[in-house]
Amino acid sequence: MGGRARVNQEGHALSGLEQKPSATPAPAEWAYAPAPESRDIVRLEDRYGLFIGGKWVEPSQTYTTISPATEEPLADVAQATPEEVAKAVAAARNAFENGWSSSAPSERSKYLFRIARILQERSREFAVLESLNGGKPIKESRDVDLPLAAAHFFYYAGWADKLEYAFPNRRPRPVGVAGQIIPWNFPLLMLAWKIAPALAAGNTVVLKPAETTPLTALLFCDVLRQAELPPGVVNIVTGDGSTGAALVTAEVDKVAFTGSTEVGKAIQRELAGTGKKLTLELGGKAANIVFDDAALDQSVEGIVNGIYFNQGHVCCAGSRLLVQESIYEPLVGKLKRRLETLRVGDPLDKNTDVGAINSRMQLEKIQELVEAGKQEGAEIYQPPCRLPEKGYWFAPTVFTNVAQSYRIAQEEIFGPVLSVLTFRTPEEAVEKANNTPYGLSAGVWTEKGSRILWMAERLRAGVVWANTFNRFDPTSPFGGYKESGFGREGGLHGLEPYLTFDGAESWGG
Ligand code: NAI
Ligand code: MG
Repeated sequence: MGGRARVNQEGHALSGLEQKPSATPAPAEWAYAPAPESRDIVRLEDRYGLFIGGKWVEPSQTYTTISPATEEPLADVAQATPEEVAKAVAAARNAFENGWSSSAPSERSKYLFRIARILQERSREFAVLESLNGGKPIKESRDVDLPLAAAHFFYYAGWADKLEYAFPNRRPRPVGVAGQIIPWNFPLLMLAWKIAPALAAGNTVVLKPAETTPLTALLFCDVLRQAELPPGVVNIVTGDGSTGAALVTAEVDKVAFTGSTEVGKAIQRELAGTGKKLTLELGGKAANIVFDDAALDQSVEGIVNGIYFNQGHVCCAGSRLLVQESIYEPLVGKLKRRLETLRVGDPLDKNTDVGAINSRMQLEKIQELVEAGKQEGAEIYQPPCRLPEKGYWFAPTVFTNVAQSYRIAQEEIFGPVLSVLTFRTPEEAVEKANNTPYGLSAGVWTEKGSRILWMAERLRAGVVWANTFNRFDPTSPFGGYKESGFGREGGLHGLEPYLTFDGAESWGG
């Protein structure tokens, strides 16, 4: 490529379109051409077994997993029975007792680093499969899920041989076998959040992916094989809630669960008095709070990222927008205009902003709550957009005129639906934000640093983002208050639930 890039009068490089001779007629319409990511990079088996003791074991029952964007069948996967779950737990126990827990910590680091690097190398393959099986836009699985999943393995690889320094004078030791149950909104990332700290701390695991999104966890078994991880250290059993329930009652020493508050409460009841350690990461109904001195355009981007990212299937989604009354009109006006530019459609298209709803069940839940919002008297806005005929879809939605008592202001919708409320004073914002059974996250938008600190001190939420939203980093602990659960994932805090110590215990003991 010789020559200088052409520049315009302001000295900026010209885009391809601007460089065309002026005789080229301007396009009448600025619609984006389709830009689909190729599916060829992923090779799926027709049928998957259970990954137990480093081998594929033929399952006794299977079901078909589909693409939520097209409803096409993708593969048959195992529906593990309690007996099969018990086999996986026995394999994990064997691996724990015969090698893994007593292996040199630097050996454990080595495997975790290998896994992290292989995930990076195969990230495109994993991103395509994640979008195919779960419905999320490829630009999110490519730019968020995969880099963060690899980052988690890198981060905990670094701690594996430094536990004595992480917890000085406390003699950290592994707990044993961890049973881990994950949801469908960030399938591979939640796998990384669960497996990386457990292995770094010297435990072995049995992990159950969500029934609608098993495929990246099954592809991950191939990463384990490539990394030559000793057999039985990680076992993957697919299946529905009954498989999860069987894992909770199996001979595991620790249960880690991410999912609905309803199931989390049932697990807590089940485990009470058993001595098994437990961490729960449950739902949320986060307030995203915009003060009148905030930069409006940036706030609008943060609001959009807060609730339409991953179709709103995010436990820490900013699903309640609290706007200071004096900027209500301009902010909501800008927000509605911004919504018109969101592209809803094919998750594998690189231009897609909002993908498919993960399952028919979730779509029905969203539809039910939106109907309730209309019935209760809120005003609904949806930008004009044509939804695909097949598959599960829901247009980005904003509700205004929302009272705090409405179901859409109280319950987790877990879809692309925002409820807008207003406030006058910071005290009122805090009161409204905390008026929820949940407490996972919150957002504050203001120019004033002192106000950010004042708010963060008073908001009952595990994470408070200031002038940003939905930011994640493996070094930063994440988790909830109240009905959002207990225990932390990420950071040093994320190792504690997988360790026992001399003397007093902290989280989830
Ligand atoms: P769920 O809590 O039923 O599913 C999450 C995981 O738990 C899945 O792997 C599932 O198979 C497993 N599971 C289900 N029942 C179980 C049981 N009795 N014992 C052990 N494991 C069990 O969530 P679901 O039904 O998929 O979604 C319902 C609602 O939960 C959503 O609309 C959303 O509001 C919330 N949710 C919150 C998530 C979060 O990240 N905090 C993730 C998924 C759902
Ligand atoms: Mg459920």
